[in-house]
Amino acid sequence: MFSDISGRYDSLNSLMSLGRDAFWRDGLSRRLWVPGKPGPDGSHGAKGSPGTPDSPGPPDAPGKFLDLATGTGEQILSIKKFRPMAKVTGLDFSEPMLWLASEKIQTATDSGLLTGPSPDLVLGDAVRPDLPAESFDSITISFGLRNIAEKKALYASVLRLLKPGGRFLVLEVVFEPRSLLAPLRRFHLKRVIPFVANQIYQIPGDAYAYLGDSVLKFPHPARLIDDLRRSGFVGLGYRHYTFGAAAIVWGHKPALIGQAPPAV
Ligand SMILES: C[S@@+](CC[C@H](N)C(=O)[O-])C[C@H]1O[C@@H](n2cnc3c(N)ncnc32)[C@H](O)[C@@H]1O
Repeated sequence: MFSDISGRYDSLNSLMSLGRDAFWRDGLSRRLWVPGKPGPDGSHGAKGSPGTPDSPGPPDAPGKFLDLATGTGEQILSIKKFRPMAKVTGLDFSEPMLWLASEKIQTATDSGLLTGPSPDLVLGDAVRPDLPAESFDSITISFGLRNIAEKKALYASVLRLLKPGGRFLVLEVVFEPRSLLAPLRRFHLKRVIPFVANQIYQIPGDAYAYLGDSVLKFPHPARLIDDLRRSGFVGLGYRHYTFGAAAIVWGHKPALIGQAPPAV
């Protein structure tokens, strides 16, 4: 589906997010985490703690980050804005999306907006990436988790790829049924988005009906945190954005070697 709509994806994403997606992406990039050297207690936080969501880790560490389901590369560009010297890898299983990402990266590099190590783009499945274990400080996924059916396998793979103490960050459009704006948002997701996608962007069929539904069905951040905890993540938290229209959820790979995941 994403390959079919790749050329129109960015405009439609802005429609889905009411134009706030860039702001939310920057919120995610600000929360990237680089684990420090093990502290006296064996933990890998900057000051011997697993890190708070707003402490980015040692300031001199450029960081090595993986963006799963990277699409047209917007999250990569946001990460490089905050951490120009970071080594960023973007992975997606849609070749047309990666071509667009590659063009954007080239344009940003030519205009001097993107500096430091050039991002790598990898064609592959986020659930079974062919990448070395314990090689990333943080792993991000923006607007991608709700499209992945095998979530448990994804979390296991993220834990394998993260360095000890590394952080997993999820950005998603969410639906908060208790919000005052809930009826308006339901109308936007169920009616406005499919209509505009169909009539203005000429996207046939039910692609955007599916996207609206997938937002309505996506778990509340508190439930997502429970799932992440059960999969072995620690130091979990979340933050809502724009009156509950989006959320960033984070969790860490346990820092101590041999540290058991919390009891289910
Ligand atoms: C809604 S787009 C999000 C793109 C991008 N992260 C962004 O922030 O705009 C979802 C992307 O996830 C990719 N995707 C979905 N399932 C995937 C999987 N199992 N492995 C890799 N990519 C996947 C799609 O190809 C698509 O590019």
